[in-house]
Amino acid sequence: MIVVSGIQPTGRFHWGNYFGAIKQYVELQDQADAAYYFIANLHALTTVRDAKVLRQNTIDAAIDLLALGINPDRATLFVQSDVPEVSQLCWLLMTRTPLGLLERCHAYKDKRAKGLPADAGLFTYPVLMAADILAYDADTVPVGEDQVQHIEVCRDLASSFNYLYGEVFVMPKAKIMEQAARVPGTDGEKMSKSYNNTIGIFDDPKAVRKTIMRIVTDSRPVDQPKDPETDHLFQLYSLFVGEKEREEMAARYRRGGFGYGEVKQALADVAEKFFAEAREYRKELEAKPQFVREVLGDGAAMARKRAAEVLQRAQSACGIKY
Ligand code: ADP
Ligand code: TRP
Repeated sequence: MIVVSGIQPTGRFHWGNYFGAIKQYVELQDQADAAYYFIANLHALTTVRDAKVLRQNTIDAAIDLLALGINPDRATLFVQSDVPEVSQLCWLLMTRTPLGLLERCHAYKDKRAKGLPADAGLFTYPVLMAADILAYDADTVPVGEDQVQHIEVCRDLASSFNYLYGEVFVMPKAKIMEQAARVPGTDGEKMSKSYNNTIGIFDDPKAVRKTIMRIVTDSRPVDQPKDPETDHLFQLYSLFVGEKEREEMAARYRRGGFGYGEVKQALADVAEKFFAEAREYRKELEAKPQFVREVLGDGAAMARKRAAEVLQRAQSACGIKY
């Protein structure tokens, strides 16, 4: 199994990013023959226009990923733009990409629907993402539900290239964590930076508790039984605890006789404990910027080696090597 995934440095990571994507990165690094994880700064360029902010976000993302358990001895961690082969591969794929395929992709479609101006970078974003995946011969791509459409585009492009030029690319598959495919935010909608409903992984625990207390709930009175399965507060709580605690909480919901405030306090407690170790390790890493840069440098060198081989293969197949 060869695993690849990227995450954009567009702001600090939230619970949705952790349970939807990063947690799987950590689990898969131990199971995979190779795992490539990168900070997708070229993708972020379609939204982050401030150079200083992008630089800072990139370093922060690297520190966050290491703090959350990406182990440079087990996974290759790097910055997307440090592997120029991917951009070259992107062009080869671009020449085989029907416009209609991209017109259906949601990032672009949503922006157009809102009447916002979109650039060619945003429009062709799924092609760059396909290059990111195909460049490492990856077969497994851990992501949240919202990225599945992009992986489908990648599969389409790979099979059309293979059909025309022979077996060049490995066919990848999305890997989604069932329980966390769509982590709800404070308003019950999908947690996302774009919706302003996130809970930050590395926010100060006091601030996190405050945010949790503001999670929107229904106004059912204390004594009434509640259905845990449809409640987003319960869904969030479930992410942090084992089966036993989950069942206990579910039973309390069904019995009634408690307020949502109690569940919120319990959620804040388990969340604080859950990320405590990562928070400590993050502080250590922040004090070692040289180490973080070395990890990214070594990662880029490893990734380039693999990507260069795949690029060669694709170039030879389509007649670019003459
Ligand atoms: P955002 O929506 O906040 O901009 P990104 O689109 O940068 O987050 O997502 C980065 C990764 O985290 C992707 O793999 C995405 O699928 C995953 N992810 C983001 N939000 C959620 C969520 N609410 N539930 C599950 N996975 C998520
Ligand atoms: N588009 C992804 C996101 O917004 C980030 C990404 C870029 C990615 N390239 C990738 C994810 C390759 C998986 C594989 O979250």
